Amino acid sequence: MRRSLSGIQPSGKLHIGNYYGAIRQYIALQEECDAFYFIADYHALTTVTDPEEMEANCHEAAAGLIALGLSPERATLFRQSDVPEVTELTWLLSVVTPVGLMERCHAYKDKVAQGMVASMGLFGYPILMAADILIYDSNVVPVGQDQKQHLEVTRDIAGSFNHQYDSEVFVLPDAHILPDVAVVPGLDGRKMSKSYGNVIEIFGDAKQTEKKIKRMKTDSTPVEEPKDPDTCNVFALFRLMAPEGEREEMARRYREGGVGYGDVKKRIAELFFENFGEARERKAELDNNPDELREIYAEGARKARAKAREVLDRARDAMGINRPL
Ligand code: ADP
Ligand code: TRP
Repeated sequence: MRRSLSGIQPSGKLHIGNYYGAIRQYIALQEECDAFYFIADYHALTTVTDPEEMEANCHEAAAGLIALGLSPERATLFRQSDVPEVTELTWLLSVVTPVGLMERCHAYKDKVAQGMVASMGLFGYPILMAADILIYDSNVVPVGQDQKQHLEVTRDIAGSFNHQYDSEVFVLPDAHILPDVAVVPGLDGRKMSKSYGNVIEIFGDAKQTEKKIKRMKTDSTPVEEPKDPDTCNVFALFRLMAPEGEREEMARRYREGGVGYGDVKKRIAELFFENFGEARERKAELDNNPDELREIYAEGARKARAKAREVLDRARDAMGINRPL
């Protein structure tokens, strides 16, 4: 069975953009692949500097994924740092990685341009990511468009290693680029993103969530006038959450005129609780029972670590550092 693998950084609270853009696809893939998903805490160290915040974010991400449908029976869920072998592989890979390859990475340049400290960790981020992928013999890696280049870098590094050591130590993975039809707009109409402060959190306070939805930015087209469902950010959210029949009906009413934004927002709030109500309850249970999460993590780490050890030893062997003296 093919292995799918992906990592999610514990950098804040999960929002519906994360769900419709990424998490939904991770969960779908667990049905057809041997799925490995991890909380990328080593990576998040490049941005999260407060230890308490790191711990809380790791809990939010793991509990959130499980509550949303990631099944610990079907998929292996673990924390990146529970498999420290990956940092050793990062070193082994870095000796075959040209500096120029890292210098060409957009994510690094963009982050530095936004004012982040140009640390070696940030610079070498793609090598750690390559190690994450290669250490589990991953075949498919579901990621957003923004990670496409990192996947190309991973294939380059794996290819260089195999060539240099005349071996087939690493499996070359394929990116599974998530369709970007679901670029979920935020409350202000820009892309929903933590960094814009325009998100609808999946597990946020119920009253606040309702208020936020009702305060979504709209234009001032009067109720009776026809509206274009294809350009309206309120409709875009409605479309993601509503059942198909209701979507078509609403699109028709938009074009005819007579729909007020207030009514659509009210329906979005209802749909939010219909769609995420069960996940919110499950998340609250996990919040109250951290032992359950710890057990899932421990079991996931055990499985992931066994696989990681095997691949790391293959690399050490090929390089001549795994041999008895
Ligand atoms: P943020 O932009 O809030 O910091 P992340 O970069 O942590 O979100 O995103 C994690 C995953 O969620 C990525 O795979 C990304 O493609 C997806 N994602 C984030 N925001 C959106 C959005 N508004 N629409 C669709 N997908 C999104
Ligand atoms: N860099 C990815 C992001 O920011 C997270 C990540 C780390 C990842 N390691 C990975 C994704 C390995 C896929 C595979 O979204």
